[in-house]
Amino acid sequence: MKLSIAQSTDLCRLLADPSRLRLLLLLESHDLSVAELTEVTGLAQSRISTHLARLKRAGLVQAQRTGGAALYGLAAADGRAAELWTVMRSQIDDAQGRLDRERAEEVIRARKSGQTWAESVAGRMELHYSPGRTWEAAAHALIGLLDLGDVLDIASGDGVLAELIAERARSTVCVDISAKVLAAARKRLRDASNVAFCQADMRALPFARGSFDHVFLMHALTYAADPRAVIAEAVPLLRGGGRIVIATINAHRHEEARDAYDHVNLGVGPDALGKWLKSCGARVEMCRITSREPRPPYFEVVTALARAE
Ligand SMILES: C[S@@+](CC[C@H](N)C(=O)[O-])C[C@H]1O[C@@H](n2cnc3c(N)ncnc32)[C@H](O)[C@@H]1O
Repeated sequence: MKLSIAQSTDLCRLLADPSRLRLLLLLESHDLSVAELTEVTGLAQSRISTHLARLKRAGLVQAQRTGGAALYGLAAADGRAAELWTVMRSQIDDAQGRLDRERAEEVIRARKSGQTWAESVAGRMELHYSPGRTWEAAAHALIGLLDLGDVLDIASGDGVLAELIAERARSTVCVDISAKVLAAARKRLRDASNVAFCQADMRALPFARGSFDHVFLMHALTYAADPRAVIAEAVPLLRGGGRIVIATINAHRHEEARDAYDHVNLGVGPDALGKWLKSCGARVEMCRITSREPRPPYFEVVTALARAE
């Protein structure tokens, strides 16, 4: 029987979802429970259950109960959805899919060897999801240790950092060039009485010298054609002993990423950043690559901490 246009588009929609494709790729080689799929993909458990129910209705996935939790696997290829998936599958070669498969193998090894979850991921725990154990949760805990004084957050975006630090600062000024982004920051921080907002260009900041104890340049330098000039603008705004904190992606060659995020340069290496900070009169306490993303193209982050003399 041929398909109507509506049935054809429904079928395409079923497979036009990256999470569902990840699940199908995973289940073609392993039977996994919802909890295991959550651990492997990092997707929310409720979303996985919804996707699985939809894939099951379409005859792509089946569940079997073997005493404990139901294990999901690919159903025997039968029906229109399976035909379309077979065609698509033959064209897919994806880094995320390969990473998911490696994680699934670890999860299955752990299931077979009776290890606890922690034992199965020991040494690679940062790559694995477990409920609530996010970098945001870690940041909230660590930020409680800080006493930041007066803070300037340059290229603040919509106030994510300010929201984290406001309680630990006497005052925070969020500066951004975009009125729309600042409006979102104002909304996010509407209950924080010690946060102010300023629309300005980081290349010409409207503040008096020696006004701040901490200046943040978080993922801002990629928006500057001349990043050193931004550092030269920022450092004099610190009080003596005050600190500038910079995070930026390391120098890379991925022009498509630069274009997609409106960056104007291809990142900054730690050597150049350290040299610029010194030349602007700051004493560099730390300037190095602090993290590497676990997925291609493996962007690295450079973090720098320097003190105004
Ligand atoms: C990637 S976001 C970073 C936001 C924030 N610092 C964070 O880490 O979440 C970069 C921000 O820089 C702002 N921006 C770009 N060029 C700027 C400039 N010349 N002066 C001030 N802000 C600028 C953008 O509007 C955007 O909000």
